[in-house]
Amino acid sequence: MANNYIDVLKENNQEHLLKYLEMANEEQKQELINEIMDLDFKHIKELYSLSSRDNEKAIESCIIEHTKFVDKYKISEEEFNRYKNIGEEIIKNGEYAVVTMAGGQGTRLGHNGPKGTYILNVKPEPKSLFEILVDGIKRANSKYGITLNWYIMTSTENNDKTAQYFESKNYFGYPKDKIRFFEQGNLPLISEDGKLLVDENLHIKYAADGNGCIYKAMKKNGILDDMKSKNIKWIFIGSVDNALLNMVDPILLGLTVSEGNKIGSKSVVKRSPDEPVGVFCKKNSKPAVIEYTELPTEMASETDEEGELLFGESHIMCNLYSLEALEIISQNTLPYHSAHKKAPYLDENGNMIKVNKPNAYKYEAFIFDGFVFFDGISILRGRREEDFAPVKNAEGQDSPQTAVELYNNYWENNENGRM
Ligand code: UD1
Repeated sequence: MANNYIDVLKENNQEHLLKYLEMANEEQKQELINEIMDLDFKHIKELYSLSSRDNEKAIESCIIEHTKFVDKYKISEEEFNRYKNIGEEIIKNGEYAVVTMAGGQGTRLGHNGPKGTYILNVKPEPKSLFEILVDGIKRANSKYGITLNWYIMTSTENNDKTAQYFESKNYFGYPKDKIRFFEQGNLPLISEDGKLLVDENLHIKYAADGNGCIYKAMKKNGILDDMKSKNIKWIFIGSVDNALLNMVDPILLGLTVSEGNKIGSKSVVKRSPDEPVGVFCKKNSKPAVIEYTELPTEMASETDEEGELLFGESHIMCNLYSLEALEIISQNTLPYHSAHKKAPYLDENGNMIKVNKPNAYKYEAFIFDGFVFFDGISILRGRREEDFAPVKNAEGQDSPQTAVELYNNYWENNENGRM
Protein backbone atom coordinates (compact mmCIF):
# COMPACT_ATOMS: atom_id res chain seq x y z
CA MET A 1 0.00 0.00 0.00
CA ALA A 2 1.31 3.45 -0.91
CA ASN A 3 2.61 5.42 2.02
CA ASN A 4 3.58 8.72 0.49
CA TYR A 5 1.06 11.20 -0.80
CA ILE A 6 2.32 11.20 -4.39
CA ASP A 7 1.88 7.45 -4.68
CA VAL A 8 -1.46 7.64 -2.92
CA LEU A 9 -2.71 10.24 -5.39
CA LYS A 10 -1.43 8.30 -8.39
CA GLU A 11 -2.85 5.04 -7.17
CA ASN A 12 -6.26 6.65 -6.73
CA ASN A 13 -6.39 8.68 -9.89
CA GLN A 14 -6.22 12.00 -8.06
CA GLU A 15 -2.87 13.34 -9.36
CA HIS A 16 -4.53 16.65 -10.20
CA LEU A 17 -4.16 17.52 -6.50
CA LEU A 18 -0.38 17.79 -7.02
CA LYS A 19 -1.03 21.04 -8.93
CA TYR A 20 -2.66 22.53 -5.83
CA LEU A 21 0.29 21.46 -3.71
CA GLU A 22 2.54 23.41 -6.07
CA MET A 23 0.55 26.61 -5.56
CA ALA A 24 0.31 26.19 -1.77
CA ASN A 25 2.57 27.85 0.81
CA GLU A 26 4.34 25.56 3.29
CA GLU A 27 1.54 25.58 5.84
CA GLN A 28 -1.21 25.02 3.28
CA LYS A 29 0.85 22.28 1.68
CA GLN A 30 1.23 20.39 4.92
CA GLU A 31 -2.46 20.73 5.69
CA LEU A 32 -3.50 19.48 2.27
CA ILE A 33 -1.08 16.53 2.50
CA ASN A 34 -2.57 15.63 5.89
CA GLU A 35 -6.05 15.79 4.42
CA ILE A 36 -5.02 13.55 1.53
CA MET A 37 -3.44 10.98 3.84
CA ASP A 38 -6.57 10.95 6.02
CA LEU A 39 -8.90 10.18 3.12
CA ASP A 40 -10.51 6.78 2.82
CA PHE A 41 -10.12 6.27 -0.93
CA LYS A 42 -11.92 2.94 -0.92
CA HIS A 43 -14.97 4.67 0.51
CA ILE A 44 -14.62 7.53 -1.96
CA LYS A 45 -14.67 5.05 -4.84
CA GLU A 46 -17.75 3.37 -3.42
CA LEU A 47 -19.49 6.73 -3.09
CA TYR A 48 -18.55 7.77 -6.61
CA SER A 49 -19.98 4.52 -7.99
CA LEU A 50 -23.36 5.61 -6.57
CA SER A 51 -23.39 8.66 -8.83
CA SER A 52 -24.28 6.59 -11.87
CA ARG A 53 -26.95 4.61 -10.03
CA ASP A 54 -30.49 4.92 -11.30
CA ASN A 55 -32.31 5.60 -8.02
CA GLU A 56 -35.78 5.11 -9.50
CA LYS A 57 -34.77 1.75 -10.97
CA ALA A 58 -33.41 0.73 -7.57
CA ILE A 59 -36.81 1.52 -6.03
CA GLU A 60 -38.64 -0.38 -8.76
CA SER A 61 -36.62 -3.50 -8.01
CA CYS A 62 -37.99 -3.58 -4.43
CA ILE A 63 -41.39 -4.77 -3.25
CA ILE A 64 -43.13 -1.54 -2.37
CA GLU A 65 -46.41 -1.62 -0.52
CA HIS A 66 -48.79 0.89 0.90
CA THR A 67 -48.43 1.38 4.66
CA LYS A 68 -51.03 1.70 7.38
CA PHE A 69 -51.46 4.77 9.53
CA VAL A 70 -53.72 6.09 12.26
CA ASP A 71 -55.58 9.34 11.68
CA LYS A 72 -55.30 11.49 14.82
CA TYR A 73 -58.73 12.96 14.17
CA LYS A 74 -60.56 9.75 13.31
CA ILE A 75 -59.78 7.75 16.44
CA SER A 76 -62.38 7.41 19.15
CA GLU A 77 -62.30 9.74 22.14
CA GLU A 78 -61.51 6.76 24.32
CA GLU A 79 -58.48 5.77 22.25
CA PHE A 80 -57.36 9.37 22.01
CA ASN A 81 -57.42 9.70 25.79
CA ARG A 82 -55.66 6.40 26.29
CA TYR A 83 -52.76 7.47 24.02
CA LYS A 84 -52.73 10.88 25.64
CA ASN A 85 -52.42 9.43 29.13
CA ILE A 86 -49.66 7.04 28.15
CA GLY A 87 -47.71 9.78 26.35
CA GLU A 88 -48.18 12.39 29.06
CA GLU A 89 -47.04 10.03 31.78
CA ILE A 90 -43.70 9.47 30.02
CA ILE A 91 -43.24 13.18 29.35
CA LYS A 92 -44.07 14.17 32.95
CA ASN A 93 -41.64 11.54 34.23
CA GLY A 94 -38.79 13.34 32.45
CA GLU A 95 -38.23 10.39 30.12
CA TYR A 96 -38.65 12.39 26.91
CA ALA A 97 -36.15 14.61 25.05
CA VAL A 98 -36.09 16.51 21.78
CA VAL A 99 -33.46 16.78 19.07
CA THR A 100 -33.28 19.35 16.27
CA MET A 101 -31.44 18.70 13.05
CA ALA A 102 -29.91 22.01 12.13
CA GLY A 103 -26.94 20.97 10.03
CA GLY A 104 -28.43 21.87 6.64
CA GLN A 105 -27.42 25.01 4.83
CA GLY A 106 -30.73 26.33 3.50
CA THR A 107 -29.27 26.87 0.04
CA ARG A 108 -32.70 26.88 -1.64
CA LEU A 109 -33.84 29.59 0.78
CA GLY A 110 -30.87 31.76 -0.12
CA HIS A 111 -30.18 32.58 3.54
CA ASN A 112 -26.63 33.40 4.51
CA GLY A 113 -26.16 31.66 7.86
CA PRO A 114 -27.55 28.72 9.82
CA LYS A 115 -31.11 28.06 8.66
CA GLY A 116 -32.41 28.27 12.24
CA THR A 117 -31.40 31.94 12.38
CA TYR A 118 -33.75 32.80 9.50
CA ILE A 119 -36.37 35.30 10.67
CA LEU A 120 -40.03 34.76 9.87
CA ASN A 121 -42.28 37.77 9.95
CA VAL A 122 -44.86 36.11 12.20
CA LYS A 123 -47.38 37.75 14.53
CA PRO A 124 -47.17 39.32 17.04
CA GLU A 125 -43.46 39.84 16.36
CA PRO A 126 -40.84 38.43 13.95
CA LYS A 127 -39.04 35.35 15.21
CA SER A 128 -36.21 33.15 14.00
CA LEU A 129 -36.90 29.47 13.32
CA PHE A 130 -34.84 28.63 16.40
CA GLU A 131 -36.93 30.97 18.54
CA ILE A 132 -40.13 29.38 17.26
CA LEU A 133 -38.75 26.00 18.35
CA VAL A 134 -37.80 27.36 21.79
CA ASP A 135 -41.34 28.71 22.20
CA GLY A 136 -42.72 25.22 21.52
CA ILE A 137 -40.42 23.59 24.05
CA LYS A 138 -41.17 26.21 26.71
CA ARG A 139 -44.89 25.74 26.16
CA ALA A 140 -44.53 21.99 26.73
CA ASN A 141 -42.38 22.62 29.81
CA SER A 142 -45.01 24.75 31.47
CA LYS A 143 -47.82 22.40 30.50
CA TYR A 144 -46.10 19.32 31.95
CA GLY A 145 -44.02 20.93 34.74
CA ILE A 146 -40.69 19.77 33.28
CA THR A 147 -37.57 21.17 31.57
CA LEU A 148 -36.90 19.20 28.43
CA ASN A 149 -33.36 18.36 27.37
CA TRP A 150 -32.80 19.80 23.91
CA TYR A 151 -30.06 18.49 21.63
CA ILE A 152 -29.15 20.39 18.46
CA MET A 153 -27.21 18.89 15.59
CA THR A 154 -25.04 21.35 13.66
CA SER A 155 -22.52 20.90 10.86
CA THR A 156 -18.87 21.98 10.52
CA GLU A 157 -20.08 24.79 8.31
CA ASN A 158 -22.55 26.29 10.78
CA ASN A 159 -21.59 25.04 14.25
CA ASP A 160 -19.73 28.15 15.45
CA LYS A 161 -22.31 30.54 14.04
CA THR A 162 -25.13 28.56 15.65
CA ALA A 163 -23.46 28.53 19.06
CA GLN A 164 -22.69 32.27 18.78
CA TYR A 165 -26.29 32.96 17.82
CA PHE A 166 -27.65 31.19 20.91
CA GLU A 167 -25.08 32.96 23.09
CA SER A 168 -26.01 36.36 21.61
CA LYS A 169 -29.70 35.67 22.32
CA ASN A 170 -28.93 34.45 25.84
CA TYR A 171 -30.37 31.05 24.84
CA PHE A 172 -33.79 32.71 24.61
CA GLY A 173 -33.98 32.38 28.37
CA TYR A 174 -33.75 28.57 28.20
CA PRO A 175 -31.52 26.95 30.84
CA LYS A 176 -28.14 26.66 29.11
CA ASP A 177 -27.31 23.34 30.76
CA LYS A 178 -30.39 21.78 29.13
CA ILE A 179 -29.18 22.57 25.59
CA ARG A 180 -26.40 20.57 24.02
CA PHE A 181 -24.94 21.03 20.54
CA PHE A 182 -23.25 18.25 18.63
CA GLU A 183 -21.72 18.18 15.16
CA GLN A 184 -22.48 15.89 12.28
CA GLY A 185 -19.77 14.64 9.90
CA ASN A 186 -18.69 15.50 6.36
CA LEU A 187 -17.96 13.73 3.11
CA PRO A 188 -15.91 14.95 0.15
CA LEU A 189 -17.66 16.30 -2.94
CA ILE A 190 -16.66 14.53 -6.13
CA SER A 191 -16.64 16.00 -9.64
CA GLU A 192 -18.45 14.34 -12.52
CA ASP A 193 -15.22 12.68 -13.60
CA GLY A 194 -14.45 11.30 -10.16
CA LYS A 195 -12.01 13.97 -8.96
CA LEU A 196 -11.85 15.52 -5.52
CA LEU A 197 -12.51 19.25 -5.52
CA VAL A 198 -10.49 21.95 -3.77
CA ASP A 199 -11.77 25.18 -2.20
CA GLU A 200 -10.33 28.71 -2.21
CA ASN A 201 -8.24 27.98 0.91
CA LEU A 202 -6.66 24.93 -0.69
CA HIS A 203 -8.61 22.45 1.36
CA ILE A 204 -10.42 19.44 -0.04
CA LYS A 205 -14.03 20.43 -0.51
CA TYR A 206 -16.39 18.70 1.89
CA ALA A 207 -20.13 18.87 2.56
CA ALA A 208 -22.32 17.67 5.43
CA ASP A 209 -23.00 13.92 5.24
CA GLY A 210 -26.80 14.15 5.38
CA ASN A 211 -29.35 14.07 8.19
CA GLY A 212 -29.18 10.24 8.30
CA CYS A 213 -25.74 10.56 9.82
CA ILE A 214 -27.42 11.88 12.96
CA TYR A 215 -27.46 8.39 14.52
CA LYS A 216 -23.71 7.95 14.11
CA ALA A 217 -23.10 11.53 15.27
CA MET A 218 -25.21 11.00 18.41
CA LYS A 219 -23.25 7.92 19.32
CA LYS A 220 -19.85 9.44 18.52
CA ASN A 221 -20.53 12.65 20.45
CA GLY A 222 -21.77 10.85 23.55
CA ILE A 223 -25.37 12.03 23.14
CA LEU A 224 -26.84 8.54 23.49
CA ASP A 225 -24.78 7.96 26.66
CA ASP A 226 -25.90 11.32 28.00
CA MET A 227 -29.54 10.41 27.37
CA LYS A 228 -29.09 7.08 29.08
CA SER A 229 -27.53 8.71 32.13
CA LYS A 230 -30.54 11.06 32.33
CA ASN A 231 -33.02 8.18 32.13
CA ILE A 232 -34.41 9.47 28.84
CA LYS A 233 -36.35 6.71 27.13
CA TRP A 234 -38.10 8.40 24.18
CA ILE A 235 -36.56 10.88 21.78
CA PHE A 236 -38.18 13.12 19.21
CA ILE A 237 -36.04 14.15 16.23
CA GLY A 238 -37.31 16.97 14.04
CA SER A 239 -36.15 19.47 11.48
CA VAL A 240 -35.25 23.10 11.99
CA ASP A 241 -37.33 24.38 9.10
CA ASN A 242 -40.96 23.68 10.00
CA ALA A 243 -42.64 26.65 11.68
CA LEU A 244 -45.47 24.44 12.98
CA LEU A 245 -43.36 21.54 14.20
CA ASN A 246 -44.95 19.95 17.26
CA MET A 247 -42.08 18.34 19.11
CA VAL A 248 -44.11 17.15 22.06
CA ASP A 249 -47.20 15.27 20.92
CA PRO A 250 -48.35 12.79 23.58
CA ILE A 251 -50.67 11.12 21.06
CA LEU A 252 -47.79 10.10 18.79
CA LEU A 253 -45.89 8.84 21.82
CA GLY A 254 -48.87 7.00 23.31
CA LEU A 255 -49.75 5.41 19.97
CA THR A 256 -46.18 4.19 19.42
CA VAL A 257 -45.97 2.71 22.91
CA SER A 258 -49.42 1.09 22.58
CA GLU A 259 -48.62 -0.47 19.24
CA GLY A 260 -45.45 -1.93 20.76
CA ASN A 261 -43.20 -0.14 18.28
CA LYS A 262 -39.77 1.35 18.90
CA ILE A 263 -40.24 4.06 16.27
CA GLY A 264 -43.06 6.39 15.28
CA SER A 265 -43.63 9.28 12.93
CA LYS A 266 -46.16 11.95 12.05
CA SER A 267 -47.49 12.35 8.51
CA VAL A 268 -49.77 14.71 6.64
CA VAL A 269 -51.63 14.04 3.40
CA LYS A 270 -49.44 14.83 0.41
CA ARG A 271 -50.62 18.01 -1.31
CA SER A 272 -50.11 16.77 -4.88
CA PRO A 273 -48.12 14.05 -6.65
CA ASP A 274 -45.21 16.43 -7.20
CA GLU A 275 -44.92 17.88 -3.69
CA PRO A 276 -41.24 17.59 -2.67
CA VAL A 277 -41.74 15.33 0.36
CA GLY A 278 -40.75 11.77 1.11
CA VAL A 279 -43.63 9.27 1.34
CA PHE A 280 -44.13 6.38 3.76
CA CYS A 281 -44.38 2.85 2.44
CA LYS A 282 -43.27 -0.67 3.17
CA LYS A 283 -40.13 -1.62 1.28
CA ASN A 284 -39.43 -5.35 1.14
CA SER A 285 -41.89 -5.54 4.05
CA LYS A 286 -39.94 -3.12 6.29
CA PRO A 287 -41.00 0.43 7.22
CA ALA A 288 -39.55 2.96 4.80
CA VAL A 289 -39.82 6.35 3.17
CA ILE A 290 -39.16 6.97 -0.51
CA GLU A 291 -37.61 10.38 -0.99
CA TYR A 292 -39.21 12.72 -3.52
CA THR A 293 -36.01 12.76 -5.56
CA GLU A 294 -36.27 8.99 -6.02
CA LEU A 295 -40.00 8.29 -6.30
CA PRO A 296 -40.86 7.09 -9.81
CA THR A 297 -43.37 9.46 -11.47
CA GLU A 298 -46.04 6.78 -12.05
CA MET A 299 -45.93 5.70 -8.41
CA ALA A 300 -46.25 9.31 -7.30
CA SER A 301 -49.63 9.64 -9.00
CA GLU A 302 -51.09 6.17 -8.30
CA THR A 303 -54.40 6.37 -6.44
CA ASP A 304 -56.57 3.97 -4.42
CA GLU A 305 -60.31 3.21 -4.87
CA GLU A 306 -61.19 6.43 -3.04
CA GLY A 307 -58.98 8.54 -5.25
CA GLU A 308 -56.39 9.19 -2.50
CA LEU A 309 -52.74 8.99 -3.47
CA LEU A 310 -51.53 5.47 -2.75
CA PHE A 311 -48.22 6.86 -1.56
CA GLY A 312 -49.70 9.93 0.01
CA GLU A 313 -48.50 9.88 3.63
CA SER A 314 -45.84 12.57 3.70
CA HIS A 315 -42.78 12.26 5.87
CA ILE A 316 -42.64 15.64 7.63
CA MET A 317 -39.53 14.95 9.71
CA CYS A 318 -41.45 14.41 12.92
CA ASN A 319 -39.75 11.23 14.05
CA LEU A 320 -39.91 9.44 17.38
CA TYR A 321 -37.56 6.75 18.71
CA SER A 322 -37.01 4.77 21.84
CA LEU A 323 -33.44 5.12 23.09
CA GLU A 324 -32.97 1.45 22.26
CA ALA A 325 -33.99 2.14 18.65
CA LEU A 326 -31.40 4.90 18.35
CA GLU A 327 -28.76 2.55 19.75
CA ILE A 328 -29.69 -0.14 17.24
CA ILE A 329 -29.57 2.23 14.26
CA SER A 330 -26.32 3.86 15.38
CA GLN A 331 -24.59 0.50 15.30
CA ASN A 332 -25.45 0.09 11.63
CA THR A 333 -24.29 1.86 8.51
CA LEU A 334 -26.94 3.62 6.46
CA PRO A 335 -26.67 3.76 2.67
CA TYR A 336 -25.64 6.99 0.98
CA HIS A 337 -27.65 8.70 -1.74
CA SER A 338 -26.00 10.90 -4.34
CA ALA A 339 -27.24 14.30 -5.45
CA HIS A 340 -25.99 16.32 -8.39
CA LYS A 341 -25.16 19.79 -7.07
CA LYS A 342 -23.54 23.08 -7.97
CA ALA A 343 -20.17 23.32 -6.24
CA PRO A 344 -17.87 26.31 -6.85
CA TYR A 345 -14.24 25.20 -6.78
CA LEU A 346 -10.66 26.31 -7.35
CA ASP A 347 -9.33 25.21 -10.72
CA GLU A 348 -5.84 23.89 -11.32
CA ASN A 349 -4.62 27.38 -12.28
CA GLY A 350 -5.76 28.83 -8.97
CA ASN A 351 -8.91 30.53 -10.30
CA MET A 352 -12.13 30.27 -8.36
CA ILE A 353 -14.81 28.87 -10.66
CA LYS A 354 -18.42 29.83 -10.03
CA VAL A 355 -20.76 27.33 -11.62
CA ASN A 356 -24.27 27.80 -12.92
CA LYS A 357 -25.18 24.16 -13.42
CA PRO A 358 -24.56 21.04 -11.32
CA ASN A 359 -20.96 19.89 -11.63
CA ALA A 360 -20.38 17.63 -8.64
CA TYR A 361 -21.90 14.88 -6.54
CA LYS A 362 -22.75 15.23 -2.89
CA TYR A 363 -23.39 12.14 -0.78
CA GLU A 364 -25.93 12.05 1.99
CA ALA A 365 -27.49 9.52 4.32
CA PHE A 366 -31.24 9.97 4.86
CA ILE A 367 -32.73 9.89 8.35
CA PHE A 368 -35.57 7.55 7.42
CA ASP A 369 -33.21 4.85 6.16
CA GLY A 370 -32.86 4.00 9.84
CA PHE A 371 -36.46 2.69 9.87
CA VAL A 372 -35.50 -0.50 8.05
CA PHE A 373 -34.02 -2.03 11.21
CA PHE A 374 -37.49 -2.45 12.69
CA ASP A 375 -40.49 -4.57 11.82
CA GLY A 376 -43.01 -1.83 12.38
CA ILE A 377 -43.50 1.90 12.76
CA SER A 378 -46.47 3.80 14.18
CA ILE A 379 -47.59 6.50 11.79
CA LEU A 380 -49.92 9.18 13.08
CA ARG A 381 -51.58 11.25 10.40
CA GLY A 382 -51.86 14.83 11.59
CA ARG A 383 -53.13 17.90 9.80
CA ARG A 384 -51.06 20.09 7.56
CA GLU A 385 -52.52 23.28 9.04
CA GLU A 386 -51.31 22.31 12.50
CA ASP A 387 -48.20 20.27 11.85
CA PHE A 388 -46.42 21.36 8.71
CA ALA A 389 -45.27 24.81 7.62
CA PRO A 390 -41.99 24.12 5.85
CA VAL A 391 -39.58 26.91 4.98
CA LYS A 392 -37.67 25.66 1.97
CA ASN A 393 -37.76 28.09 -0.94
CA ALA A 394 -37.22 31.85 -1.10
CA GLU A 395 -40.58 32.30 -2.88
CA GLY A 396 -43.73 30.44 -3.87
CA GLN A 397 -44.70 27.17 -2.23
CA ASP A 398 -43.05 26.20 1.06
CA SER A 399 -41.57 29.67 1.39
CA PRO A 400 -41.35 32.10 4.35
CA GLN A 401 -44.59 33.67 3.10
CA THR A 402 -46.61 30.42 3.13
CA ALA A 403 -45.07 29.39 6.47
CA VAL A 404 -45.97 32.73 8.07
CA GLU A 405 -49.58 32.40 6.87
CA LEU A 406 -49.87 28.88 8.28
CA TYR A 407 -48.23 29.92 11.56
CA ASN A 408 -50.40 32.99 12.04
CA ASN A 409 -53.59 31.09 11.20
CA TYR A 410 -52.77 28.29 13.60
CA TRP A 411 -51.86 30.51 16.54
CA GLU A 412 -54.81 32.85 16.01
CA ASN A 413 -57.08 29.84 16.47
CA ASN A 414 -55.15 28.11 19.23
CA GLU A 415 -54.23 30.87 21.61
CA ASN A 416 -54.47 28.54 24.57
CA GLY A 417 -51.72 26.21 23.37
CA ARG A 418 -51.63 23.05 21.35
CA MET A 419 -52.58 19.47 21.85
C1 UD1 B 1 -36.66 16.52 4.00
C2 UD1 B 1 -36.88 15.01 4.04
C3 UD1 B 1 -38.15 14.67 3.24
C4 UD1 B 1 -39.32 15.41 3.90
C5 UD1 B 1 -39.06 16.92 3.90
C6 UD1 B 1 -40.14 17.62 4.71
C7 UD1 B 1 -34.79 13.80 4.30
C8 UD1 B 1 -33.66 13.13 3.62
N1 UD1 B 1 -35.73 14.36 3.49
O1 UD1 B 1 -36.41 16.89 2.66
O2 UD1 B 1 -38.39 13.29 3.27
O3 UD1 B 1 -40.50 15.13 3.23
O4 UD1 B 1 -37.79 17.20 4.54
O5 UD1 B 1 -39.87 18.95 4.85
O6 UD1 B 1 -34.88 13.83 5.49
N2 UD1 B 1 -30.15 18.47 7.67
C9 UD1 B 1 -29.07 18.31 8.50
N3 UD1 B 1 -27.92 17.88 7.95
C10 UD1 B 1 -27.77 17.58 6.64
C11 UD1 B 1 -28.88 17.74 5.79
C12 UD1 B 1 -30.07 18.20 6.34
O7 UD1 B 1 -29.16 18.58 9.70
O8 UD1 B 1 -26.68 17.15 6.24
C13 UD1 B 1 -31.42 18.94 8.27
C14 UD1 B 1 -31.82 20.34 7.83
O9 UD1 B 1 -31.20 21.30 8.64
C15 UD1 B 1 -33.31 20.30 8.00
C16 UD1 B 1 -33.65 18.86 7.65
O10 UD1 B 1 -32.47 18.10 7.84
O11 UD1 B 1 -33.67 20.49 9.35
C17 UD1 B 1 -34.22 18.71 6.24
O12 UD1 B 1 -33.22 18.91 5.34
P1 UD1 B 1 -33.43 19.29 3.81
O13 UD1 B 1 -32.19 18.94 3.12
O14 UD1 B 1 -33.96 20.66 3.67
O15 UD1 B 1 -34.55 18.24 3.40
P2 UD1 B 1 -35.64 18.24 2.27
O16 UD1 B 1 -34.96 18.03 0.97
O17 UD1 B 1 -36.59 19.35 2.35
